[in-house]
Amino acid sequence: MADEWWRGAAIYQVYLRSFADGDGDGIGDLAGLRAKLPYLAELGIDAIWLNPWYPSPMADGGYDVADYRAIDPAFGTLAEAEAYIAEAHALNIRTIIDIVPNHGSDQQDWFVQALRAGPGSPERERFVFRPGRGDGPPNDWQSIFNGPAWTQVADGEWYLHLFAPEQPDFNWRNPEVVEEFHDILRFWLDRGVDGIRIDSAAVLFKDLDSQEESYTDHDEVHEVYRGWRRISDTYDDRFFVGEMWMPDQERFALYLRPDELHTAFNFDFLSRPWEAAELRASIDLTLSTHVPIGAPPTWVLSNHDVTRPVTKYGRQDTSFSHQDRKHGMRTDLVLGERRARAAALLAMALPGGLYVYQGEELGLPEVEDLPDELLQDPIFTRSQGTDRGRDGCRVPLPWSGKEPPFGFGDGTPWLPQPADWKNLTVESQYDDQNSMLSLYRSGLKLRRALLGDGSLTWLDAPADVLTFRRETLTCVTNLSADAVSLPSHEEVLITSIPLDEGRLPSDATAWIS
Ligand code: GLC
Repeated sequence: MADEWWRGAAIYQVYLRSFADGDGDGIGDLAGLRAKLPYLAELGIDAIWLNPWYPSPMADGGYDVADYRAIDPAFGTLAEAEAYIAEAHALNIRTIIDIVPNHGSDQQDWFVQALRAGPGSPERERFVFRPGRGDGPPNDWQSIFNGPAWTQVADGEWYLHLFAPEQPDFNWRNPEVVEEFHDILRFWLDRGVDGIRIDSAAVLFKDLDSQEESYTDHDEVHEVYRGWRRISDTYDDRFFVGEMWMPDQERFALYLRPDELHTAFNFDFLSRPWEAAELRASIDLTLSTHVPIGAPPTWVLSNHDVTRPVTKYGRQDTSFSHQDRKHGMRTDLVLGERRARAAALLAMALPGGLYVYQGEELGLPEVEDLPDELLQDPIFTRSQGTDRGRDGCRVPLPWSGKEPPFGFGDGTPWLPQPADWKNLTVESQYDDQNSMLSLYRSGLKLRRALLGDGSLTWLDAPADVLTFRRETLTCVTNLSADAVSLPSHEEVLITSIPLDEGRLPSDATAWIS
């Protein structure tokens, strides 16, 4: 069944720890996810992408993998994972898992063996160990999570970690590493996963002689993904989605050549401010890099690494960047929600794949007042508290009831939920036609029936209004300050907020036919 279903799929991101807790320990798990599959089927999504579910000391929320072929006991067992994949398939929901090739956990067997084996050993060759310069590290590289990118071990050598010290980088110039990941891919493809998200996909190769950090997008990385593609092509209709934060779109497109990755996250769109010219430029740039090579674009409004849209769009400065997280800036959540609704319908109307991060469909805001002592993101400690990190978008979901834990499970959630989330629970939104949840449900259903991959034509529009035609409908997003009239139409299919005497209000989107 090579229907390339992923070209136009709506993919829902499950951050398992925070989705639903089936065993009452305050941590979301596979039992919780399985119980909520009917909710996801009803939402109208085609696939679930799960963040890493492997055994992990959780130094970076599971992106420090201790065993790539098992499930963390806090989440369940391998048998439960297989049961989940089958149950999801029965509901026509496919599964995408997260593979982390750049680094493992310092608790992983390989790393434990490398420490034991000592300098010069083949075990150390699986990682990036080097002698220091005098008393200092081999070079001055800084970690993406702040602080030095090197940590010294007892015998004096240093190992490289682009992220936290608990995440030692693999040596991708070692054929053993290449083979190991081929085997891991087959392990999961054999178990029926339909897609693979590749974590930090562009940073596998390092030029350690460079004075400045030199790891993003070295040419050698393409050979790795060609090898991966040869493997996935031996299975039916599986696909890759790469996580690459790269400003250069021409370089980005190289990863999407026909013998490499099928898709990649579009972070350009996610990073743009809420301004018509910016969004239009991003859409045009995205299409012009994808269309010529036949790869479907993707549209992402949020994920587990970035500020929730309702908060981001409620600020005066709506641009996004990892370095400037804008925590605690004055936020108008009413305005933010209105824009997030308009953005959701805009993203759903664009050609290609769509990603929805859990809680986006509930309009959850970023939680910015989590107590310091509960923060778990290594960015918080490694930045000496100057960057509060990403926990605020990872708070457990509110499902039902009037007070925490809002039906998340029987235990105390691993991060506390704000009391005012009683108005944002699935239960409280479900039958409310004006809720964010109803908007996502209706929008995703219409999208599934009418949209997906394809092409787009811009239509003439007033200043700060984005109007484009798809094969089946026209999408109008009004980013100007005033209401505008809609182009002539037969029917209004859906709007992000009610029309005002037939006119589309400011910060709103309509689909018309
Ligand atoms: C990716 C993940 C992020 C993680 C990092 C290191 O960016 O999305 O959550 O911290 O890689 O694995």
